[in-house]
Amino acid sequence: MAKDDDKRLAAGAAVAEVADGMLVGLGTGSTAAFAIAALGRRIAEGLRVEAVATSEATAAAARAVGVVVRDFSTIATLDLTIDGADEIDSRLFAIKGAGGAMLREKAVAAASRRMVVIADGSKRVAAIGAAKVPVEVLPFASASVVAALERLGAAVAVRAGYVTDNGNIIADCHFPAMPDPRALAARIAAIPGALGHGLFLDEVDAAYIAADGNVTRLER
Ligand code: 5RP
Repeated sequence: MAKDDDKRLAAGAAVAEVADGMLVGLGTGSTAAFAIAALGRRIAEGLRVEAVATSEATAAAARAVGVVVRDFSTIATLDLTIDGADEIDSRLFAIKGAGGAMLREKAVAAASRRMVVIADGSKRVAAIGAAKVPVEVLPFASASVVAALERLGAAVAVRAGYVTDNGNIIADCHFPAMPDPRALAARIAAIPGALGHGLFLDEVDAAYIAADGNVTRLER
């Protein structure tokens, strides 16, 4: 089965969790786009929900299918967030941010009572660590943050020509090994000028992962 069919299946399973009256966080990326489309179909059938978007692209896609998108700066708590991932393992540790939205994605996920990752089977790994960890960097501090990330052992590439929705740059970090993701997350978070990173270690409550047409649910 094609990867897009698996993304659609995983997205549909997560959107089935959405109930009337919920405030839903919408992730960013190609898998999240399937969830937005599925949510739009349910809204057309009468479901009443509102949403918060984790990127400007997601906000536009959501509005295009009839989703009311609210300003996250006015919202303290959401019911459910549905988002993609670049890697996820059975601990429900995830790496996110290939799409560059991880700072907003983590803020929305942290405010959500439940966060569900949706992915095709290629994202499921035994232990996260092979994917690049994106770090959102204050442009003013770019050289010092890159140097600090290199001191942590990363091969760092600043994403060329890319500016986040927050006006910042992204340093994509490849770590040769990731034996202790929590320690690494703490060390990245402690770098002044590093505004956020793609290690999601506490946010994910569940995952729907579809491979060859079969959906597996992982639950914390
Ligand atoms: C964006 C993300 C995406 O959810 C992640 O990169 C997965 O994207 P896709 O579903 O297109 O593979 O974290 O910041």
